[in-house]
Formats: sequence, structure tokens, C-alpha cells
Amino acid sequence: MLADKTVVLGVSGSIAAYKAADLASKLTQAGARVNVVMTEAATRLVTPLTFRSLTGRPVITSLWESSESGIGHITLADTADIVVIAPATANVIARLAAGIADDMLTATVLATRAPVIIAPAMHANMFHNPVTRDNLARLRARGFTIVGPVYGRLASGDTGEGRLVEIEQIIDAVREVLKRSADLSGRHIVVTAGGTQEPIDPARHIGNRSSGKMGHALAEAARDRGAEVTLITAPTHLPEPAGIEVIRVRTATEMREAVVEAVKEASALIMAAAVADYQPKNPAQAKIQKQSPGLTLELVRTPDILSEVKGSFIKVGFAAESEDLVANARKKLAQKGLDLIVANDITEPESGFGADTNKVTILDKQGNVESLPLMSKREVAERILDRVVGLVLTK
Ligand code: PMT
Repeated sequence: MLADKTVVLGVSGSIAAYKAADLASKLTQAGARVNVVMTEAATRLVTPLTFRSLTGRPVITSLWESSESGIGHITLADTADIVVIAPATANVIARLAAGIADDMLTATVLATRAPVIIAPAMHANMFHNPVTRDNLARLRARGFTIVGPVYGRLASGDTGEGRLVEIEQIIDAVREVLKRSADLSGRHIVVTAGGTQEPIDPARHIGNRSSGKMGHALAEAARDRGAEVTLITAPTHLPEPAGIEVIRVRTATEMREAVVEAVKEASALIMAAAVADYQPKNPAQAKIQKQSPGLTLELVRTPDILSEVKGSFIKVGFAAESEDLVANARKKLAQKGLDLIVANDITEPESGFGADTNKVTILDKQGNVESLPLMSKREVAERILDRVVGLVLTK
């Protein structure tokens, strides 16, 4: 798994920096090409020569030095199969979360398309500071894998949560992330996102509170696992994700047309979109003027895309529920002929519509029920894709 992989190992200025030497050595022994990038603070704790001796490769300590050695941050970023930052200080985590790229390590991370693992190490008080927690949550939401820290003795002599995880755990995470980073390669995954808008007149529509975040997280996670991804999205305020074919639609009918076309070569369809169940029967051609005290709109059913669309691909639906979560989801799984359904609890503000996090239960047609804790939408996406990969491979 590690043979012939290029690992960028970022070492920042925690006292645990000396442990990174063991990590560099073990990765090298496993056959990886290890390019070590040290922050200025890290070089005060361990010498670059240590890493150069262990990896047999140049060690980069500044943006300026890199231009002399010819190994710039873009080259490092482009050639990396994975980036591992161990140990990662609160400072490095904060700069990455803010998108600051003022040294070789942060510039490389900002420029890379490779997966990134972060192994934090710091005093427990810094780790528990809400700012650090928030920064880590942001990185997690962008798809970074965070390993640790663990509880134990800290450099200050205190005990608490802030100690770097064991090197073997970091190597296990590297293997796991590398395996995942290619498990959808050669597959075409179609994802829907956002809430459809059903016009009442040229100025108004029937809509819902979907922000598109869940669908975007799925599309980005599938892309990062090597899939060719088509994202069919109802209107959202989210920026267009790179490396993904984006098809913009407005109504349920338009979404159906786009889905039918896109699934022709697909391995899986994942419908995270909140599709309207009803649309105005006769949308007005001109803006409806305020006249009588009341207004009655006649609504008719929209096409049920998931039920209608047929093929040999894996079908995954969502069920946004405010009560009887599992029972309602189970009904939809059967009615719509799905392989999986993701039951989405929308009663909590941090779950479902608009939130950055989500709390879901995954049901399959064999009757298995997997309840996940509250996690970032990106992490939810990874867990769903873990299940999709299993189904795609056994189809
Ligand atoms: O976009 P976010 O703000 O991140 O919020 C995420 C979410 C809450 C929208 C998402 O996680 C979610 O639950 N999406 C499905 C919402 C929904 O429409 O659920 P439903 O129970 O009404 O529909 C069940 C399934 O059938 C869904 O997969 C839906 O896409 C699909 N459907 C629904 C109606 C219809 N006419 N055609 C469909 O294919």
C-alpha cells in the first residue's frame, strides 16, 4: 500500500516533533518516498539533518530555500499522494483553517489535491479551547482526517488530552486514507443537491430550506475518492466545486430530466436533494396581484425521481424526517426500490437543513440499521460512500 507512494510529512513546532522522526523512518522503510517539510519552529526542536538521514531526501524548511532546491510548494503539492502533518500545533491548525499560506507547509497544503491527515499535539487547554475545536471542525468539514490527540502525560508535566497519537495509529490512518482515496476510481457517481423551486408566478415559488451542503459534501467526497462525479443541483449559494460536472436545475421536473440523462453510465445515484412533492398546477404567466383576501393554489404531484429512475446502478435516497425517523425511512426505502436510505433527523438545529453537521441513520434493504452520531456533513458523506463502495463492488 505504501510502496511507491509519495508522502509529504509536515512537522510543526510541538515538543512531539522528535516522534515525527520515527514516523518518517517507518514510512520510508515501508517503501514510501517521504518529503519532509518543517516549520521554522520545528527546526528548533529537531534538526533537518535527522529527517534527511532517515528519508534520504532533501528536507524543506522555508519557501525561499525551496526555490533554490527546485522543489517548490506546487511540485510538492502536485506529486503528493498524501500529506500528513504530525505533530500539528494549534498555530498550524489555525492557519490552515484560515487558509493562510505563509510558509512552505501551509502553502503546500493549500495547493494540494491529495488527502490530508492531521495529528494534533498541544497542551490540553489549547486543544479544548473553543477556537481550536472550531478550527479542527472546519478542517474536518473540508475533508481533512484528524487523528487524535489522546489523553496522557504532556510536555508541561500535566496530564490531559493533547498528546500525539502513537505513530502506528498515524500509519494505520495513512493506509486507510490511501485505500479510500482510490476506491471509487473509474466509477461515475451522480449526486443531487439543494431544494427544488416550483414556480407560482414569475416572482414566487414553492421551495424548502435545503442549502445544498449535504449534496456538495457527497459530491466532493466522491471526487476525492477518485470518482467521476456529476452534481445535479437546485439553486444554492454554494460555490461550484472544482473537478465536478455541475448541472444546474430549478424544478423537480428539470431535475428528473437531468438525472435520467446522467445515470446512463453511473455506478450510483445519491439523492440528497430536497425535491418538492407538489408543484402549482398552472403557474401564472404574470405576477399575481394582491386582490382578494385569500388565494387558493391548486397543486399537483411532481415526478418521484427516485421511484421512476431505473437501471443497474446503486440507488441511495435520503429521508428528511421530523418524527418516526426509522419507520418512515424504511417505508421510503421499500416504496422507492432503494439499496440504501439515509434517514435524516431534522428536529435538531445542528442536523439537517442548512447545518454544517448532520445526524443520520443509514438503513439498507437487508434490514440493517446504522445510527451515526452528530458529525460534519463531510464525515457523514464518507460514511455513506463507505457503504456505497461496498455495494458497488459486490454488484
Ligand atoms: O441541503 P442541506 O441544507 O445540507 O440539507 C440536507 C437535507 C436535509 C436536504 C438532506 O440531508 C435530505 O434529507 N434530503 C432529502 C430531503 C427529502 O426530500 O426527503 P423526502 O423524504 O421528501 O424524499 C425522500 C427521497 O426521495 C429523497 O432522496 C428525495 O431526493 C427523493 N425524492 C423526493 C421527492 C420527489 N418528487 N422525488 C424524489 O426523488
